[in-house]
Amino acid sequence: MMNVLLIGSGGREHALAWKIAQSPLLGTLYAAPGNPGIADHALLSPLDPFDQDAVVAFCRDKAIDLVVVGPEAPLVAGLADALSAAGIPVFGPSAAAAQLEGSKGFTKDLCARENIPTGAYQRFNNAPKAKAYVRAQGAPIVIKADGLAAGKGVTVAMSLDEALGAIDDCFEGAFGEAGAEVVVEQFLHGEEASFFCLCDGVTALPFGTAQDHKRVSDGDTGPNTGGMGAYSPAPVMTSALIEQTMTEIIEPTMRGMAAMGAPFTGVLYAGLMIDETGPRLIEYNARFGDPECQVLMMRLKTDVLVLLKAAAEGRLAEVAADWRNEAALTVVMAAEGYPGTPRKGTPIAGLDAAEATGAKVFHAGTALNDGQLVATGGRVLNVTALGPDVTTAQAKAYAAVDAIQWPGGFCRRDIGWRAVEREAAAAPD
Ligand code: AMP
Ligand code: GLY
Repeated sequence: MMNVLLIGSGGREHALAWKIAQSPLLGTLYAAPGNPGIADHALLSPLDPFDQDAVVAFCRDKAIDLVVVGPEAPLVAGLADALSAAGIPVFGPSAAAAQLEGSKGFTKDLCARENIPTGAYQRFNNAPKAKAYVRAQGAPIVIKADGLAAGKGVTVAMSLDEALGAIDDCFEGAFGEAGAEVVVEQFLHGEEASFFCLCDGVTALPFGTAQDHKRVSDGDTGPNTGGMGAYSPAPVMTSALIEQTMTEIIEPTMRGMAAMGAPFTGVLYAGLMIDETGPRLIEYNARFGDPECQVLMMRLKTDVLVLLKAAAEGRLAEVAADWRNEAALTVVMAAEGYPGTPRKGTPIAGLDAAEATGAKVFHAGTALNDGQLVATGGRVLNVTALGPDVTTAQAKAYAAVDAIQWPGGFCRRDIGWRAVEREAAAAPD
C-alpha cells in the first residue's frame, strides 16, 4: 500500500485525487492544501508547499511513498529537489528541469540547439532593443515576459502599438521579476492543441491530447484566462501528428535536457500550433494543464498511481496507458468578474443534482462556510462529462451545468465548438 501526498488545490488536483483514490495500491491520500472536493478523497493538511523542510518532515511523519505535485510554482521553487535529496519519491521535475516552463528564453534556446520547430524569436533585457526589433519585424507579433506570470505574461499583438505597449508593460514591472527579460516571437498561424507526456528522465510516454479554450467569452473573445473548458482527445492530433510531435519535439527535448544534466521527470505539457507543415512548439509547461487534466483523468482507464510511480522511479518503459474510447468535455464555471477581480463568497447549490445526470463536478476555488459551499476564487467548478463524441459529451456537461444554482457564477456556452463543427461536417446528411 502507498501513502500519497498531493500538492495543490485546483480542479486539476481534484481530478488527480479522484483518480488516485480509485487505485487499489493506495493506502492514505493526503492533500495540501486541497479543497472541499478533494476532501472527499483525501485528508487535508494546511502544509505550505514553499516550506520545503515542512513538506519533508510531513512526508517522514506520515510515511509518504510518493509526492504528486500539481502546480508549477513549487516545482520551479525546487520542491522536487528537496524531496529527492531527502530520499522521498516525487512525481514532478527538478527546478532545473522545470525551467522548461519557468523560463521561455531557456526553452527557446533549447529549441534552437535541438532543432525543434518553433516560432523565430529574440531575447531582450531592455526596451529600446526589443522595440527596434519589433519595428523591424512588424505586427502581428508576440511579446512574452520570460518568467512565470500566472498565464498573463503573453501578448499576441495584432498592431505595432500594442506590441510596443506590451514591451513597456514588461520592463515597467507589470509582471514583476518575470518581465525583467522579454522574448519576442513570430506570430504562428494554425490550430492549437495540448499534448501531454509522462516522463521519467529518459522515456516519454504519450499521455493524451486536449484542446483548451483560453478566452473568457463565447466565440474565443475577451481576455485570456487560465482556461474556460477543454475536451479530449483533440481530433486535430491525428496519430501521424502525434508521432511527428514525439520525433521532432518531445524526444529531442528529453535528450537535450538529459545532456545538460537536467533530465525531465513528471508531466511534459506541450502547447502546439498545428498547420499544414505539422506541429510547432508554442510553449512547455512542467505540469498537467488545468482544466485539461480533468478530461484526461475522466478518459484514463489505467491505474494512475501505477503510472505516476513508474515515472518517479524511472520505469516508464515498462508501463502503458489505456484510454476509454469516449470523448470527455469539461466546462469551467467561474466567479463573476473573472479573469479580473472575481466576486468571493457567493453560495453554490445543486452539485448533487448535477452529478445525478452522470457528470462529474470537480472543485477548484470553493470552500465550505458553516456547511454552505461558497466560491472563493476565479475558476470555481469544472463540470465534466463523457460521451461517444464531443457533441454528446458537450450536451451532457451543459445539462449538468444547468442543474447547478450559482447566481454569482458564469461559464462559456460553446466549449468544444471546433470538434462539434468537425463532427457535424463529418456526419451523413
Ligand atoms: P503561452 O502562455 O505561451 O501559452 O501563450 C498564451 C497563448 O498565446 C497561447 O495559448 C496562444 O494562444 C498564444 N500564443 C503564444 N505564442 C504564440 C505565437 N507565437 N503565435 C500565435 N499565438 C501565440
Ligand atoms: N489550461 C492551460 C494551462 O493549464 O496552462
